[in-house]
Amino acid sequence: KLLAEAKFSQECEELMSSLPKDRSFFAEYLYQYQGFWYPPNILEGVLYSQKHFQAKDSDIILVSSPKSGTTWLKALVFALIHRHEFLTPLESHPLLDNNPHSLVPFIEGFQFHTQDTSPKIFSTHIPLRSLPASIKDSSCKVVYCCRNPKDAFVSIWHFLKSLMLKEMVGCTIEEMVSGFCRGSSVYGPFWDHALEYWKESQENPDKVLFVMYEEMREQPRDWVMRIAEFLGCSFTEEEIENGVLDSIIKLCSLENLSKLEVNEKGKLVNGMETKAFFRKGEIGGWSDTLTPLLAEEIDKTTEQKLFGSGFRF
Ligand code: A3P
Repeated sequence: KLLAEAKFSQECEELMSSLPKDRSFFAEYLYQYQGFWYPPNILEGVLYSQKHFQAKDSDIILVSSPKSGTTWLKALVFALIHRHEFLTPLESHPLLDNNPHSLVPFIEGFQFHTQDTSPKIFSTHIPLRSLPASIKDSSCKVVYCCRNPKDAFVSIWHFLKSLMLKEMVGCTIEEMVSGFCRGSSVYGPFWDHALEYWKESQENPDKVLFVMYEEMREQPRDWVMRIAEFLGCSFTEEEIENGVLDSIIKLCSLENLSKLEVNEKGKLVNGMETKAFFRKGEIGGWSDTLTPLLAEEIDKTTEQKLFGSGFRF
């Protein structure tokens, strides 16, 4: 096994040395693989999952760009899929003492062997074109959560600042906006990522459900019902009357999750502090961080990238 791991690491290194690279905003290069940009450790996870991840027809794959509502989607889908096991009594619900990321592993995080519930729920930031083949070949379902690029960018900025202040010394927000617009951000270009999944959701609506963070914030009941229907576990009228839908939404709300001890003081297996995943969750909150000029730079890129696509954020 060790030999296989050593061989895999060597293959990754060889591949990386042949890929285009770009200086990133933290003290590391990003590598461009199949059109998207990754730091080396994440790229290794992507390559590993392409080689080893075996999706089953019953699997559920939650996809997003970083900081676009991943944590919330994980909580909601976990709660709705397991609502018959865990909602009553609520006191023993796994979401009360586990961060959503501990319940729904990232497939590129080398932890996909740890899921033992059924159906299995996984998540990923991998772009459509680079997903492990078994996700496309099986009839597993994909839910994609998208967010407006300015809010997603601002969320990335605050997340990186809270996690890795030291490595970011010397990086200005101007530099980071320009990298983001150039596409050179982790799992970027952000727009290509969203567009590919959006197109797939149009062409293959039974396979991919495309959800906007903003719409889910505004109408959580409608969207949670729609996600449940898409996943083949619609809420019954009785469940809705009995408040099951509302209690899932309340359980998974930013207000509720962010106050739990596990999310205020906890750490993930990779050492990340769980509190970094909960901030304001606002729509249009970017305006307190981006100057009008920087906002315009992102808007211009959005306009160029979406031109002729039929898609709007
Ligand atoms: P802000 O930084 O704008 O507040 P991700 O989960 O993909 O890392 O995205 C993080 C963003 O989702 C953060 O946005 C965070 O506050 C918001 N968020 C986290 N949990 C949430 C929840 N339960 N409901 C709504 N938004 C949530």
